[in-house]
Amino acid sequence: MRLDVLTIFPEYLEPLNVSLVGKARAAGRLDVRVHDLRQWTHDRHHTVDDTPYGGGPGMVMKPEPWGEALDDITASGEGEPVLVVPTPSGRPFTQELAAELSGKPWLVFAPARYEGIDRRVIEEYRGRYDVREISIGDYVLAGGEAPVLVMVEAVARLLPGVLGNAASHGDDSFAPGEMADLLEGPVYTKPPEWRGHQVPDVLISGHHGRIRRWRRDEALRRTALHRPDLIERCDPGCWDRHDRSTLAALGWAEGPDGRFGRTPPAVEE
Ligand code: ADE
Repeated sequence: MRLDVLTIFPEYLEPLNVSLVGKARAAGRLDVRVHDLRQWTHDRHHTVDDTPYGGGPGMVMKPEPWGEALDDITASGEGEPVLVVPTPSGRPFTQELAAELSGKPWLVFAPARYEGIDRRVIEEYRGRYDVREISIGDYVLAGGEAPVLVMVEAVARLLPGVLGNAASHGDDSFAPGEMADLLEGPVYTKPPEWRGHQVPDVLISGHHGRIRRWRRDEALRRTALHRPDLIERCDPGCWDRHDRSTLAALGWAEGPDGRFGRTPPAVEE
C-alpha cells in the first residue's frame, strides 16, 4: 500500500518510522511518503494561509499550494488514490472504515492546520477522486496530523503480514466475529499472583469452553459499563441465553423488540 501525507509539519509524522508502521515500511509492505506543503509555495515566506472571506477568527489554508501539491503527488503514481481529509466535521472514523481503507492500494492524506482548507480544494478533487472527510472523534485538535497517525496505525495493522499473529485482530473491540459489537475484556499474563492480585482461576483452568464464556461475560460487562449505546443498538440476534441473563443481572431489561435497554441502578466495574 502507498501512503502520501501532505503537511506543513513533516516532523509531526516521525512516529510513522516507529513500531508496527515503521516495521511495515522497512519490510516493504507500506510505501510512506511525507511531503512538506511549503515546497509548493512560491513566495519568500512560503505562505500557506490567509484571512477568511466573510471575516471571523483564524486563518484558512490557501488553495493554490494544496492544488499544485496534490496534482504533483497524484500524478506520481499509478491509478487513483483515495484522498483522506481529516476534519472534526467529517464522518466518524470507525473500525469498519479502517478495514475499507486497508483494501485500497493508495491513500493520500491532507491534514489541515488553522481553520481548515479553502473549500474549493475539496470540490476540485471530489470531481476526480474518492475524497473522504473523516473525524477521529468529537473533539477539536489543533491540526489533522495526529488524526493521520491514528488512521494510518488503524489501517496498517489490518494489512496482510503486518501484525505478527493474524488471529490477533480477531478479538479486537469492534472487529467482526463472535465478539462483534462488544468491547474487549481484560487480559492477564504471568505471574499468577502480583501484589496480592490473582489471575481469575478460570483462565488457569484449561477449560476452553468456560474460558470462552468467561471472556464473553467480561466483554459484555465492560461494554455495558463503558458503551451502553453499543448494547442498546444491538439487534436481538446478538445475544444468546447466557448473555440475556448476564445483561439482566447487570440491570438491563429486554424490551418487546428483543433489544436491551438500561434500567437503573448503574453497574459496578
Ligand atoms: N482536526 C482537528 N480535529 C480533528 C478531529 N477530531 N478529527 C479529524 N481531524 C481533526
